[in-house]
Amino acid sequence: MDTLYRRLLKPLLFKLSPDRVHDLFTLIGETAGRTGPMRWLFGRAYGYRGRDISKTVDGIRYRTPILLSAGFDPDGRLTRILPALSFGGEEIGSVTAFPCEGNPRPHLTRLIRNKCIVVYKGLRNDGVDALIAKLRRTPRTKDFVLGISIARTNSEDAWCDIESGVRDYVESFKKLNEAGVGDYYTLNISCPNAFTGETFITPENLGRLLPRIREVSCEKPVYLKMPINVPWEQFAQLLDMADKNAIQGVVIGNLNKEYGDLTYPEDAPHEYRGGLSGLPTAKLSNELIKKTREKYGTRFTIMGVGGILTAEDAMEKFSAGADLIQLITGMIFTGPSLMNRICQTYAKTQAT
Ligand SMILES: Cc1cc2nc3c(=O)[nH]c(=O)nc-3n(C[C@H](O)[C@H](O)[C@H](O)COP(=O)(O)O)c2cc1C
Repeated sequence: MDTLYRRLLKPLLFKLSPDRVHDLFTLIGETAGRTGPMRWLFGRAYGYRGRDISKTVDGIRYRTPILLSAGFDPDGRLTRILPALSFGGEEIGSVTAFPCEGNPRPHLTRLIRNKCIVVYKGLRNDGVDALIAKLRRTPRTKDFVLGISIARTNSEDAWCDIESGVRDYVESFKKLNEAGVGDYYTLNISCPNAFTGETFITPENLGRLLPRIREVSCEKPVYLKMPINVPWEQFAQLLDMADKNAIQGVVIGNLNKEYGDLTYPEDAPHEYRGGLSGLPTAKLSNELIKKTREKYGTRFTIMGVGGILTAEDAMEKFSAGADLIQLITGMIFTGPSLMNRICQTYAKTQAT
């Protein structure tokens, strides 16, 4: 399967624009997910069938410790097929209070030598009401966890003041919580491609958002998706604010805005065209995970994200201190058997 993807499918797919491949994958995944025989077939090809590696984190059981990271499936169309690809969950979204067209296309640009994607989607999604309706009519798979990532609506018409940003997050959060959809929620405060910028990555502004989230009575875990381009002092102040406001965990982290971190910076767009995923996020994310564990012990659940392109990269995230891991770019560059390979390697480490 691996060779088939690398030798045949990937060269063909990489000839198409990444926006088209993403649309195509979503369509195929959604269609295949609707029928039992197709799910079975995908499961035979890509599903993990080894010893039990399920993990319970914050009271939620994950069939495997790997999630699809936020952004690949903003509208919750892949929930039925992903369990067949060895995922233990996914972070749907980021979803916003209002439907959102996102930024002008292209949304995605591949930088092949740099093993990364320039992401300029700008939070395109159908909005929270459509997501709730979709999830209510979609059957669930046992122990396949649905996290929902919430962001602020990205639109040129958006009010740029802090209060309207707070209201936008709270509105989505309340609606999802009242509808009872999603097993946990992540507040995405670190999208680098939004018209309103990263308003809530300063401790002062985050200190205005979190108490309002806390006013909503919610039994499910709430996590924060962290920026990776801020200095450690600021990162730690954000964590202190999260601690004060009973946030259970952190997703570390989002895209890298520094084109200078690329191995081949000459391949990057000449002007800023969005954040970098994949390899240029790996080191920053691993360092921040380690420092968070060192300073805060087990206070926060940590989801480790960024640049997991091989099973060894995944193990590095766990060694750094992640409880669970998330990925997108590795699946695109290495192929859909990556998750199964990670599960097998993880199972071996659990056996010793
Ligand atoms: C196509 C794409 C869309 C993304 N959209 C979002 C998003 O809506 N919300 C979010 O929190 N992160 C988003 N991200 C960031 C990813 O969730 C992840 O943090 C980042 O890509 C690093 O992981 P990776 O190297 O495994 O891709 C997106 C990434 C990609 C590649």
